[in-house]
This record gives sequence, structure tokens and C-alpha cells, in this order.
Amino acid sequence: MKKFKLLITTTAFILSSTFVYAQSIEEIIKGRKAMFSENYQNGKKISILLKSGKKDEAKPIMKKMSDNYKKLLDYFPENTKEGFKTEALPSIWENKDEFNALMQKASNDMLKLAKVIDTADDLRAIQKELMWSNCSACHNRFRAPH
Ligand code: HEC
Repeated sequence: MKKFKLLITTTAFILSSTFVYAQSIEEIIKGRKAMFSENYQNGKKISILLKSGKKDEAKPIMKKMSDNYKKLLDYFPENTKEGFKTEALPSIWENKDEFNALMQKASNDMLKLAKVIDTADDLRAIQKELMWSNCSACHNRFRAPH
């Protein structure tokens, strides 16, 4: 009887930990998709605000985007290469240092943008350089065509 109880407890434990494990992969993939989407929305917000000269309102959103990129560094563990409609390419894990460097650069550039925006002459050019160009630089190599 004791052995049987142990068997049941062990089985239940293995089943529940498998479930938790599977769920966390889903959470990670869906979590990173949500953060990229949020960054996209925030990037568009920044562009609109800057068009009407609202630089001080745009700055906290730039900081938020920078923070999201930093968090995203932890959202590509080895076990999240596939599933849940991920568009992440295998090249990410084959070139992890390069991928992380692009993510870190995107994060740093958003902070730089917040700094130089007050004195920049050409707002469109500086946004292109420090915000939008980082999206395509990474997507071209690391995100599946969609
Ligand atoms: C360092 C790499 C990197 C940078 C920088 C980057 N992305 Fe992405 N992006 C990805 C990857 C990888 C995916 C695929 C994630 C997945 O499906 O698991 C993605 C997915 C997305 C998605 C789809 C999210 C979904 O719901 O499926 C959007 C939208 C997006 N990115 C917008 C942007 C925008 C806008 C920028 C720039 C402001 C940007 N990304 C910068 C790598 C990057």
C-alpha cells in the first residue's frame, strides 16, 4: 500500500511538472510576441507624438521600449524554437551572440533617441536611424517572412 501511494504521488508529480513545463514554453513564446507587438504599437505612438512636437510625452515610451528589449533577451531559451506559431528562425540559436547584440543595440538606441531628440534637426531621420532600422536589421535575419 505504501509503495502504491508512492507510485501515485510520483506519477502525479511527473505529470504536473510536465504540464507546467509545457505551459511555460507557451507562456514564453506568447509573452515575447506580446512584447514585440507592444513595441510596435509604442513605436507608432512615438512617431505620432513627435510629429506634433510632444517630445516629453514620447520619452517615457522610448524608455519602455528599451526596457522591453532588455526583457526580451531572456525570452529565447533553447526549448522555445518551435510551436505556438512562433516566427523565430533557428538562426537565432545558431548565432545567439549576434542576436543578443542586436537586441541590446535596439535597447541602447531607444535610450539614445530619448537623449538626442531635444536637439535633433531631422526628427524623421533620427527615428529611422535609432528606432525603425533596428527592427528590419533583426527581422531580415532572425524572423520568418510573415
Ligand atoms: C533583435 C531582434 C529584433 C528586433 C530588434 C525587433 N524584432 Fe520584432 N521580432 C523578432 C523576432 C525573433 C520575432 C518573432 C517572435 C516569435 O514569433 O516568437 C519578432 C516578431 C515581431 C512581431 C510579431 C509579434 C507577433 O504577435 O507575432 C512584431 C509586430 C514585431 N516583431 C515588430 C517589431 C518592431 C516594430 C521592431 C522595431 C521597433 C522590432 N520588432 C524589433 C526580432 C526582433
